Amino acid sequence: MRLDVVTIFPEYLSPLKLSLLGKAQEEGLLEINIHDLRAHATDNHHSVDDTPYGGGAGMVMKAEVWGSALDPLLVNDVDLIILTPGGKRFNQRMAEQFSQCSQLVFACGRYEGIDDRIRQYYSQNKFADKGVRVHEVSIGDYVLGGGEVAAMVMIEAITRLLPGVLGNPESIIEESHMHEGFAEHPAFTKPQTWRDIAVPEILLSGNHAQIAAWRAQSAKDRAEKNF
Ligand code: ADE
Repeated sequence: MRLDVVTIFPEYLSPLKLSLLGKAQEEGLLEINIHDLRAHATDNHHSVDDTPYGGGAGMVMKAEVWGSALDPLLVNDVDLIILTPGGKRFNQRMAEQFSQCSQLVFACGRYEGIDDRIRQYYSQNKFADKGVRVHEVSIGDYVLGGGEVAAMVMIEAITRLLPGVLGNPESIIEESHMHEGFAEHPAFTKPQTWRDIAVPEILLSGNHAQIAAWRAQSAKDRAEKNF
């Protein structure tokens, strides 16, 4: 899978080089390219934003600058993800769908967002015919300073689903059964007693059917409590 992230803060994305994702890139399972949007600014001040038509607070990111950055990336069979708090809410199902894609391009907006003509332009039939698909995505009902952290959240959720990226692929199979509600049972490891709190007896019994039933019930209780 190939990922491209376009941002005015390339350094913000440096954690993507670490841990399992860094290893996946070294092993060639994954290619992540970070692009500096400002390199596409054309005026003397290298500005990427301007005041909004219609007035109001804040600045809007310029279509010319974004168009110049995105044109070479949106060639064929590619999903453009525009990060915005007004987008479709990201969830595990979307992570699974995006993990099947061959190339994802993340457009990280700052300020009051990106000139809407970027979304309109790349949504036209001539792009759809080439396999360019445009999505506006939000990672939750809160407003971040920009799309960078949102892109990282999505990248982590999506790439751990790719074959060979996660250390333990069995956890993915377990997770795939828990779409609605993310019922996760409580987990314990050694020692058997810690600060007078003992691990539930049943988990030591070796009775797999009873353990599975206990876990299912505890997961349900926990989900109800946290709802
Ligand atoms: N940019 C600002 N807030 C955001 C959010 N919640 N999700 C995605 N992108 C954002």
